[in-house]
Amino acid sequence: SAAVKGGFDSFMDKEIHDQPKAVADTLLGRTDASGDLMLDELRIPETVLRSIDKIIVIACGTAAYSGHVAKYAIEHWCRIPVEVELAHEFRYRDPILTPRTLVVAISQSGETMDTLMAVRHAREQGAYVLAIVNTHGSTIPRESDAVLYTHAGPEVAVASTKAFLAQITACYLLGLYLAQLRGTKFADEIQETLQELQALPDKIQSVLDDEAAVREVAQAMKDEPSFLFLGRHVGYPVALEGALKLKEIAYIHAEGFAAGELKHGPIALIDTGQPVFVIAPSPRGRDQLHSKVVSNIQEVRARGARTLVIAEEGDEAVVPYADILFRVPQTPTLLSPLVAVVPLQIFASELAKAKGLDVDQPRNLAKSVTVE
Ligand code: G6P
Repeated sequence: SAAVKGGFDSFMDKEIHDQPKAVADTLLGRTDASGDLMLDELRIPETVLRSIDKIIVIACGTAAYSGHVAKYAIEHWCRIPVEVELAHEFRYRDPILTPRTLVVAISQSGETMDTLMAVRHAREQGAYVLAIVNTHGSTIPRESDAVLYTHAGPEVAVASTKAFLAQITACYLLGLYLAQLRGTKFADEIQETLQELQALPDKIQSVLDDEAAVREVAQAMKDEPSFLFLGRHVGYPVALEGALKLKEIAYIHAEGFAAGELKHGPIALIDTGQPVFVIAPSPRGRDQLHSKVVSNIQEVRARGARTLVIAEEGDEAVVPYADILFRVPQTPTLLSPLVAVVPLQIFASELAKAKGLDVDQPRNLAKSVTVE
């Protein structure tokens, strides 16, 4: 009923709107009086966490994309190599695991069988397993060495939204905590990043406040047969997630690419009118990321694509090449998935609704897949 959906048309829309709180709640209570990160619940001895020489993130679906984001953040902050792998691929390829490997299993439900089997395998091989899970008392945290709960609250819609943002947030906390413990970042840098993180719930809210523009575009594009999504760096997993959302609930062919890979194949798909979403990184970064993505937008547009660009407020360089521009608040690139993915979620939800589909219960999918 409308009441349990908080007045929204679908659980998915309600959960999209729960996101500022999901992120805030996941950050809550995880620092001590002096502002240091305190993840007591980790229960893995600090000596072990200090000696970790590799992290492998395992997950499925949307949770796996949060792991992609984690790789960029943790490697940058902690200088520990991070691999990200789909749990079912990891489990059956004889992965190299030692007592110095930290396996991070990410799951909303905590019941995904593919992920659970990978967790069991990792522990049998002597690795430490940390679960990042949303559902208390579920199987994956019970079978892991430690758990860092995301506090997104119950997620009902099959397509994951607020759990995704909470997973990314938990991964940032883990990365910053490891950096604190291992001394790979100065305390004030960690504090600064934490403050940036604390500002994210309000920024997500401001993206939600602009949702009408996104919904209007989605309605107008409801008969498009295919969408492409491009991103670099953390924009790449955002692109993958944007494409997954459209596949899952709108049954539209959609693919996400690393923008730099475009010229190695996918650019052949670009034909007149092809809609292409591009996730632009912050132009304030010190690297060349932003200008590379602007070139990618130019390349697809020169070949006839209709570009839908997600870019920071104040980013003027994208304006000439964006047929449609969705603005998000200024956010450091590493943290930007928390705002950049929100318009893509809204777009998919509105498009599915415009097609008359059941947004919360898409065909052929289950919220939690408890078979391998
Ligand atoms: C199913 C759902 C996806 C979800 C994936 C992983 O396939 O349809 O939305 O991302 O499982 O679920 P988990 O509960 O492990 O995060």
